[in-house]
Amino acid sequence: MSTPGTQLPGVSFSPESRPLRVGVLGSGKGSNFRALAEAWRAGSLGCEPVLVLSDIEGAGILALGAEFGIPARFVPPGPFRTKMSSEAEEELVRLLREAEVDFVVLAGFMRVIKEPLLRAFPGRILNIHPSLLPQFRGLEAWRQALEAGVPEAGCTVHLVDAGVDTGMILGQSRVPVLPGDTAESLHARIQVAEHELYPRIVREFAQRLRQES
Ligand code: GRF
Repeated sequence: MSTPGTQLPGVSFSPESRPLRVGVLGSGKGSNFRALAEAWRAGSLGCEPVLVLSDIEGAGILALGAEFGIPARFVPPGPFRTKMSSEAEEELVRLLREAEVDFVVLAGFMRVIKEPLLRAFPGRILNIHPSLLPQFRGLEAWRQALEAGVPEAGCTVHLVDAGVDTGMILGQSRVPVLPGDTAESLHARIQVAEHELYPRIVREFAQRLRQES
């Protein structure tokens, strides 16, 4: 339902009385989603995760949704490996709209976001990426950092646009690359930083959306 103060096509802003509603998309184990859901439970997320969607049947993030009492669903992705089919992405949009989501958070979602979703939530899709963007876009960014021999790695929360890991940066955390690091030990250190960064930036984003509405 549309509410007073709507500023962009396709996005309904919440009335002052209800928390902003967030939809979560993920393909993996969902440790970032867990950090978000724990912050929500602790009352410090500034918004409410209301729906978890995954392109992977049996993904850990779906079980986590159930653990936190948040509706969680598998959406069959279609025939492509790196993106949803446009029908599948339209289905994501339909489900997110049905859940009256105000904005979308990608938490380890492994497919490129295309037009249907970008159009439905313009400037309202966040992602977390395991590098200090603009360095090391794309897959296994922590391994790219290790192989490049940089002294510092980290993670970035950014808005999603039509490129791959190219949207506006909302926040970053840095971690050192230590002697003897493996790809796994570096990724684990980056993930600890992610779990602090993502809830903090999501809260700030929700606050900003609330002020703008
Ligand atoms: C994280 O490293 C995140 O930066 C990247 O995908 C990974 C997801 O991990 N986008 P998890 O499923 O949240 O544990």
